[in-house]
Amino acid sequence: MALKCSIVTLFSFLLLLATINKAQSVILDIKKFGGANGDITQAFINAWKEACAATSNVKIVIPKGTYKMREVDVKGPCKAPIEIQVDGTIQAPADPSQLHGVEKWVTIGYVSHFTFSGHGIFDGQGATAWKQNDCTKNENCVRRSMNLGFNFVNHSIVRDITSKDSKNFHVNVLSCNNLTFDGFKAIAPDESPNTDGIHIGRSNDVKVLNSKFATGDDCVSLGDGNNRLVVKNVECGPGHGISVGSLGKYDNEAPLDDFLVKNVTIKNTNNGVRIKSWPSEPISITVTNMRFEDITMVNVSNPIIIDQEYCPWNQCSKKSPSKVKISKVSFKNIKGTSATKEGVTLLCSRSVPCQGVELTNIDLKYNGAPVIAVCANVSPKISGKAPTCTSIKSI
Ligand SMILES: *[C@@H]1O[C@H](CO)[C@@H](O)[C@H](O)[C@H]1NC(C)=O
Ligand SMILES: *[C@@H]1O[C@H](CO)[C@@H](O)[C@H](O)[C@H]1NC(C)=O
Ligand SMILES: *[C@@H]1O[C@H](CO)[C@@H](O)[C@H](O)[C@H]1NC(C)=O
Ligand SMILES: *[C@@H]1O[C@H](CO)[C@@H](O)[C@H](O)[C@H]1NC(C)=O
Repeated sequence: MALKCSIVTLFSFLLLLATINKAQSVILDIKKFGGANGDITQAFINAWKEACAATSNVKIVIPKGTYKMREVDVKGPCKAPIEIQVDGTIQAPADPSQLHGVEKWVTIGYVSHFTFSGHGIFDGQGATAWKQNDCTKNENCVRRSMNLGFNFVNHSIVRDITSKDSKNFHVNVLSCNNLTFDGFKAIAPDESPNTDGIHIGRSNDVKVLNSKFATGDDCVSLGDGNNRLVVKNVECGPGHGISVGSLGKYDNEAPLDDFLVKNVTIKNTNNGVRIKSWPSEPISITVTNMRFEDITMVNVSNPIIIDQEYCPWNQCSKKSPSKVKISKVSFKNIKGTSATKEGVTLLCSRSVPCQGVELTNIDLKYNGAPVIAVCANVSPKISGKAPTCTSIKSI
């Protein structure tokens, strides 16, 4: 008995040692930072302050449970890596005006070696905001808060968390370097307006891996000034597909170079993989080295599309061609079903035709028959099985 006891004691002691060794980081439980009526706004800000000042790794834990939180905007530089593990559900105010017009509900900025982890949910409670959204009719519409913003964040990871029902885009990535989304989810109803999954701008080496998007707008969209981005092992749909652009509308746009989309399933969306630019705008930038491969389309309206006459809701004129120069774009091993006969649309600019476009092994069917390709100002290189171009006149 005594022996058994001391073995148990010894075992516990070893276990304790192991835990101490493993837990190199200090753990801050958000509940220790207070929060009246389940509102953790101030607790979040205070926990960040403490974590950011610490000289060794800190993990902030938001345990299982449901919390309310108003807008937070936390920044570095911090002294050591910070991890925020979200296991609970954090709800934004449903009334959009309670976020005081901030661009993002939760903003993380100017940090390196940051990690978001856990299986928790950021719930934007966007239903009221969607009802008020008139952006299809009104160019100066009120833009509601996005769920999450990462600004000037380097060498960081967003793992496993879910963004739900954002009032606007789910995630905005701006000026980040080496940021990886792994096992991320963005979920909102098919008909929710502008609920893009992840929008990336002015960033390098951003990866979106093993993730799932089911939203009312693009799953992943790229703005200008991005280099070396990867979207891999991703499920997309419903929504608007994976989109480069729209480009060429604003001053000071920077070029895009090197985008790989690989092993992606796109389902019930109105576009599959798309590059789009505005006509009649003076901005001339280059878009190059875009690769879309190993993609399965299921009931997608425009599975493969380059659209240099992008002009939704007639918000522009199509009088003069786009000046965005698109080159080296390869579509390879793309199969499945199209919801329209024109499964491949390559509508390039008359002033700067597309160059180096390749179609390799494109096996898309509309009602059981191969899709057709409609093209303007482009002569794609066809390899393996792929539709040849039916030329159409463009503006
Ligand atoms: C992130 O990297 C950029 C480019 O290397 C650098 O200018 C910036 O200071 C870095 N930001 C942080 C927070 O370390
Ligand atoms: C990218 O960031 C991750 C996560 O912090 C880090 O482990 C990795 O070393 C970084 N890669 C480079 C090339 O800096
Ligand atoms: C492709 O992505 C799916 C997730 O959408 C994943 O289950 C599968 O393992 C991936 N295949 C390869 C070859 O990586
Ligand atoms: C095909 O996709 C459209 C949306 O683009 C959707 O409304 C329709 O229900 C889908 N059809 C099937 C059979 O899933």
